[in-house]
Amino acid sequence: MSAKTEDRKLPLIVLTSPLPAEFKDLLDGRVRVRVFKHPEPLSDDMLCRRLKGASGAVTLPSDSVTAKVFNACPALKVVANCAVGTDNVDLEAAGNLGVVVTHTPEVLTEASADAAWTLLLSIARHGVAGDRLVRRGRFKGWQPDLLLGMDLRGKVLGIVGMGRIGRAVARRAPAFGMHVVYTQRHRLKPSQESALSARFLPLDELVATADVVSLHCPLTPETHHLMDRKRLTAMKEGALLVNISRGGVVDEAALVDCLRAGHLGGAGLDVYENEPALAEGLTRIANTMLLPHIASAGRETRAAMARLAVSDCLAVIEGREPAFRVV
Ligand code: 8YV
Repeated sequence: MSAKTEDRKLPLIVLTSPLPAEFKDLLDGRVRVRVFKHPEPLSDDMLCRRLKGASGAVTLPSDSVTAKVFNACPALKVVANCAVGTDNVDLEAAGNLGVVVTHTPEVLTEASADAAWTLLLSIARHGVAGDRLVRRGRFKGWQPDLLLGMDLRGKVLGIVGMGRIGRAVARRAPAFGMHVVYTQRHRLKPSQESALSARFLPLDELVATADVVSLHCPLTPETHHLMDRKRLTAMKEGALLVNISRGGVVDEAALVDCLRAGHLGGAGLDVYENEPALAEGLTRIANTMLLPHIASAGRETRAAMARLAVSDCLAVIEGREPAFRVV
């Protein structure tokens, strides 16, 4: 832990982890900054201790910012979550206590959409299995039926959650000849649908129609286990599932069963229900690509997220309106 302690009268900002960006120019002389050097998922008890006396906190999606934290840290004016998702923050408690919560959308949209396609392409064409086969010395030369995968041209991509990231995923679909169907609570305007060549379907129809289902909705009580056993089973035989949203949107144990039974053709996951723990058996399923929650981990993207979180934290402390306020 390091702390700048020159002027104790300045408000204190705590970063729960070092962030990959140069933002000292934003902070110098305006606040004291304390950075916790060893990134680890922080429980609310740990956060209560670390945020004591802080006016602002820059947090990660792995930090549990619960009501307990808000109650234990009365000096806290703002929690700037360095992520677009805010399911790790108790927004209701923040709102009740007048603490502002900000997040970092927009700057991570394109990197996240690229990551969804990384997963989609890899599982459609057995990227992980092929790599493993070559490394194990089992490549014996070109064979007509080696690792046959899904041709994407003409197939249906079902996007669940057509926010910024969902739309960026849809925009890449024509390059691969895929037809886009989507679902979300509020239908897009006809002009947006036609610009994206995307057709609205209710969730259950989408699940039964799509060759690939890609999840881009936030995790809320309504979307928890949106892809439950029933919906996973209702997916087409051999269909693929991509998830870069939040692990809790999928019943991970049911997903393992559907993959193991061969009902689903594969899954590309960047997020897990109980991160960093994985559902029993998941790592033993052949056609999966399992990434460690890195969908937004482009260098420029992560630097932009960090700078945005820090500048919004500072804005609230100095009485200005932040760029991306959630509550
Ligand atoms: C994601 C994230 O990887 O910002 C978040 O909430 O978890 C990112 O790091 C990305 O936005 C895809 O959802």
